[in-house]
Amino acid sequence: MTMTDPTTAAHSSVAVPRVAFPPGFSWGAATAAYQIEGAAAEGGRTPSIWDAFAKTPGKVLNGDTGDVAVDHYHRFREDVRLMADLGLTSYRFSLSWPRIQPTGRGPAVERGLDFYRALVDTLLEHGISPVATLYHWDLPQDLEEAGGWPIRETAYRFAEYAALAAGALGDRVPVWTTLNEPWCSAFLGYGSGVHAPGRTNPADALKAAHHLNLGHGLAVGALREVLPASAKIAVSLNLHLVRPLTDTPEDREAARRIEAVGNRVWTGPMFKGGYDEDLKADTAHLVDWDELVRPGDEAEIGRPIDLLGLNYYNPTVVSAPGEAAAESAEAARNDGHGDSEFSCWPGSEDVVFHLANDDVTAMGWPIDASGLVDSLVGMHRDFGLPLLVTENGAAFEDVVGPDGEVDDPERVRYVDLHLQAVADAIAAGADVRGYYLWSLLDNFEWAYGYSKRFGIVHVDYDTQKRTPKTSARWYAEVIRRGGLA
Ligand code: NOJ
Repeated sequence: MTMTDPTTAAHSSVAVPRVAFPPGFSWGAATAAYQIEGAAAEGGRTPSIWDAFAKTPGKVLNGDTGDVAVDHYHRFREDVRLMADLGLTSYRFSLSWPRIQPTGRGPAVERGLDFYRALVDTLLEHGISPVATLYHWDLPQDLEEAGGWPIRETAYRFAEYAALAAGALGDRVPVWTTLNEPWCSAFLGYGSGVHAPGRTNPADALKAAHHLNLGHGLAVGALREVLPASAKIAVSLNLHLVRPLTDTPEDREAARRIEAVGNRVWTGPMFKGGYDEDLKADTAHLVDWDELVRPGDEAEIGRPIDLLGLNYYNPTVVSAPGEAAAESAEAARNDGHGDSEFSCWPGSEDVVFHLANDDVTAMGWPIDASGLVDSLVGMHRDFGLPLLVTENGAAFEDVVGPDGEVDDPERVRYVDLHLQAVADAIAAGADVRGYYLWSLLDNFEWAYGYSKRFGIVHVDYDTQKRTPKTSARWYAEVIRRGGLA
């Protein structure tokens, strides 16, 4: 497909892209506070659940923590210069709740806000439009000790923090995202326990899911009161693109279950008026939904938002248990993007997960961009909102060559395929407004510590030296050209 306007292209000195994107399309990269900032005890910041979890022996590979990470807190100006060199038009980052409101209660800490004011101002000076995520998994530890996301109170605390952050930064941040991948917060944090806070109780995971939803809705209400009318509000969901292994009723039933607890648990109350009956039935033995969901909650969660963010990495192939399934099932090494052994699927524990193919990233995640087309087209059809790809990218075993360069052709291929998929979705009618590559920099990959590199800029963790990889130069060309060659 092409959306190039030949009349303007003829006057341009830049090569005409084979696959062009709409004017004003946001070319971005994404990061998250705990994964890059470091400075864990500076500026009045106190521990989040990830500080506590990473310091618990055996939870994170090699005992890695985000104490220093890639020291972005001290190097943000250099990092923004890198973004400007790439030609990024937008940058998605997250605000650290415990840097802004250390105990999760009470007034904001000005020093914490000052860091983000300086970051945002530097972005704006370079013509890069900021997208701020309020919650990328770093709940203040004090709130976890008071009960965490399984208790209702946490949702109210989140809305209060949202109002503080927006009050301070709303004059300069045009796009706000409430939650990042609440599926991970609820089901990996409180279900399988592979993410902070490391609890393993499926009932608590479902309660956390509802309170994350409620926190989202309350935060949207708080943000609307504080932000200028022009500000846009979004949420970033890792909606699973679920495919049944075969067309048998059993495999289709497995897909239905995973869609319910993986996707509709968020999109039901956010966009469709409430939780679906089949989800409640599948999980009725774990939670009393009538007690959990109070009158008015679903309306609160369903407050209208302006943009819907998708984090996409790979499709999710599932089947019912059985001989055929056992033969083709692979133990997917996945920390939460659709697959099995580390994940928690309350009410659907017997569903079997399969790798879609053998073409995988260093995470073991299948490379299949068709899932991105299907996701975006389906979201456009089902929710009718303008869309952003708020994350997409891949880890590979990058090495610094003898010449000091980092050549990562696999990442170029991965991003190329997925940008083509975005273009295909746009051609099919989906209103996709931007793409945020995960990630700008190599960083702390949660339970995998620093062992997995997702950056288009390599970081030497001993020296903190940044080296743009081949993929960074390639992406810069795509941005300059406005599309794929
Ligand atoms: C999902 C998360 O939002 C991000 O923090 C993580 O690093 C990437 N995907 C890769 O796993």
